[in-house]
Amino acid sequence: MDEINVLLDVLVLGSGGREHALVKAIQRSPNVGKVYAAPGNGGTDVDAKNVNLNINDPAAVVTKAQELLVDLVVIGPEQPLVNGVADALRAADILVFGPGADGARIEGSKQFAKEFMDKHALPTAAWGRFTDAESALNYLDSQGAPIVVKADGLAAGKGVTVAATLDEARDAVKECFDGRFGSAGMTVVIEECLTGPECSLLVFTDGYRMLPMAPAQDHKRVGEGDTGPNTGGMGVYSPVPIVSEQEHAAMLDIMQKAVSGFAADEIDYRGILYGGFMLTPTGPKLLEFNARFGDPEAQVLLPRLESDLLELLLRVAEGDLIDMELEWSDDWVVSVVMASGGYPGDYETGKTITGIERAEQLSGVTVFHAGTALDETGQPYTTGGRVLNVTAQAASFSEARELAYQAVGLIDFQDKIFRSDIGGKAMLGREAWS
Ligand code: AMP
Ligand code: GLY
Repeated sequence: MDEINVLLDVLVLGSGGREHALVKAIQRSPNVGKVYAAPGNGGTDVDAKNVNLNINDPAAVVTKAQELLVDLVVIGPEQPLVNGVADALRAADILVFGPGADGARIEGSKQFAKEFMDKHALPTAAWGRFTDAESALNYLDSQGAPIVVKADGLAAGKGVTVAATLDEARDAVKECFDGRFGSAGMTVVIEECLTGPECSLLVFTDGYRMLPMAPAQDHKRVGEGDTGPNTGGMGVYSPVPIVSEQEHAAMLDIMQKAVSGFAADEIDYRGILYGGFMLTPTGPKLLEFNARFGDPEAQVLLPRLESDLLELLLRVAEGDLIDMELEWSDDWVVSVVMASGGYPGDYETGKTITGIERAEQLSGVTVFHAGTALDETGQPYTTGGRVLNVTAQAASFSEARELAYQAVGLIDFQDKIFRSDIGGKAMLGREAWS
C-alpha cells in the first residue's frame, strides 16, 4: 500500500537566531509543508514566510494559527509561554510545542523555580526571597559578599547582579525596589555565589520522558575574557569538551528528576526544559531553568540533530515521546554572535550587511539571522542588538572554531562587534576556570 504523505504546515513564533535555526531544521523534514515565522527576521523571510503578529497576545496567536490552518505552532521565546499562548492554542485544539503558563513559571518566576528545586531536591545555591528593601539589605549583611541579587520576574536577562562587594549588592537591591525592572523587581531573590564553569543541558520532554541534547556553553558577557555586562549570549559551542562524564551523568539525573517533578506536580510540560548549571567543585548545581530553547544554544544544538525535528516537535506537542529515539552527528559546532556596537546598551540600526553569501560558501558554515530585515532588493540590514549567529560545524572543536572565525572575517556591517575568544577558554582545558 502506498504511504500517504501528509505535508504539515508550521508556525514558528519569534524573531531571533533561535527561530531562524528552528525554521531551517524544520525545513529539513520530508513532511514539511508551509512554514511561517511571526514576526520573523531577514533569515526567516527567505527560509519561511514572515507574518505580522503580536506573539505575546494569546487570542491573536490562536486567530492567526486558525487563519493559516497550521498543524503545529512552535513557541520560541519565553514571553508568549509565560503569557499562556500555549494554553490558548491547546484550548483551541491546535498542537503546540511549548509548556503552558503553569510550566513556564519555571522561567518566569525565580521564586517558583527555587521552590521547585528545593521541593524536588535539585542541587542549587542557597537563597532567600524578599519583598521589601530593608529585609533584603539585612539578609545581605548577614551573608556577606560575594553574593548574587536577582529580580524575581523576567528582566530580559538583565535582572541579575553578581556582586563582588556588599556595596554593589546593596545598590542592586535598591535598584530593584526603585522600580528599574518594574514589577519584575519588586520581589528579589538573593543567592549564594557559586563558582565554576557554566554549562547548559537542554532536553525535549513530553512531561514524562526526556530526550537530552548534548551540553552547550554560552558566553554571556559582552566583552573578551568574560568582561562587561551580561547579554543574551555572545557565542556558544556544543558539545562542551571540559565536562567530565561524571558531571554529565549528574546533570542528566537532575534533569530527569525535574521532569518527574513536573509530572508529580501535575504540570503538563511539553517542550524544552533548559537547565542552566554551574559545575561547582561539589558537582553541578542549577542556576536556573528556562522553558524554551536557548538563543544562541539552539543554533549549535539543532544543526547536530540528524532525526526529523518536525516529527520530534509534533510528538512532544502530542505528549507522546514513548518510543522516540534521536540521532545526533558527532560534529562539533561553534557559533559566534555578531552584534551592533553599543549592545547590550544603546545601538544604531539600519546598517547594510555584506558577505553572508560568501561566508556560507564555506563548507560547514551557516549564518543564522537574528536582528536583521531585508530591504526591497533582498539586501539584509541590521534591526537589532544581536544581528547574526555565524555557525560552523566540523569534525573537531578547533576546526569548528577556526571555521567560524574565518566566516566572521568575511561578513561586515558598520560598528559590528563580536567576541574573538568564543571557545578560547575551553581550548585551554578545565584549569582555565580555576
Ligand atoms: P540567570 O539569569 O539566573 O541565569 O543569571 C545570569 C548569570 O548570572 C548566570 O549565567 C551566571 O553567570 C550568573 N549567576 C546567576 N546565579 C549565580 C550564582 N548563584 N552564583 C554565581 N553566578 C550566578
Ligand atoms: N543564551 C541564554 C538564554 O537563551 O537564556
